[in-house]
Amino acid sequence: MSQAYIKAEEINLGQEQLSLLKERKSTVAFSDEPINTTQLEQIFEATRWAASCFNEQPWRFIVATKENETLYKKVLNGINPHNQNWAKNAPVLMIAIAKKTFSMNGAENKHSWHDVGLAVGNMSAQATAMGLYLHQMAGIVKENIQQDFEISEDFEVVSAIALGYKLPIEEVPEDLKARESKERTRKEFSEFIYNVDWEKSTFKP
Ligand SMILES: Cc1cc2nc3c(=O)[nH]c(=O)nc-3n(C[C@H](O)[C@H](O)[C@H](O)COP(=O)(O)O)c2cc1C
Repeated sequence: MSQAYIKAEEINLGQEQLSLLKERKSTVAFSDEPINTTQLEQIFEATRWAASCFNEQPWRFIVATKENETLYKKVLNGINPHNQNWAKNAPVLMIAIAKKTFSMNGAENKHSWHDVGLAVGNMSAQATAMGLYLHQMAGIVKENIQQDFEISEDFEVVSAIALGYKLPIEEVPEDLKARESKERTRKEFSEFIYNVDWEKSTFKP
């Protein structure tokens, strides 16, 4: 099925707050400008207010700033070389981890990844409001991270996240320029909102 994508610039969300959501972008053009502790605190304050199943708050984060060379290298090591290529420029690298069970009874928490995603969504919105950018990565070597950081069985590595400021396009290294300036697109409403029959949308906003 051919997909009729909408260009990001053509989406008019109408409200000022929501325009932040469009401003967010998975940049590959990180500047080396450092992120300070206060900024990280603001970001994690937003992160921790995400909703979660039974308020378990199953998210955990390993946070490495470039100043902490040993830790930063250890996190970078867990990222695929393809992603390392641009992620190595970010002043902060993180690993997002999910607690697989509920603390109240030890039962499996089938929504733990979902809730980590909500928390990272908050993180992402807060970062954007602060003029910062996140780039999440599934391209990681989970087993290595799990081993290197001695993460116990009850936890599962979900993703890596690079955080930092974005370079203006004229300062982006040549090998990343095309990717950084690539058009961002989204599915049409009719491709993902159904109200009568499954996969037959008649949704009109
Ligand atoms: C869970 C997750 C995993 C991702 N993994 C990678 C990755 O390994 N490498 C990469 O370059 N981008 C990765 N991305 C970024 C997506 O490619 C990106 O979000 C998507 O193309 C839409 O672009 P945008 O975020 O700029 O809107 C990932 C995003 C998410 C949410």
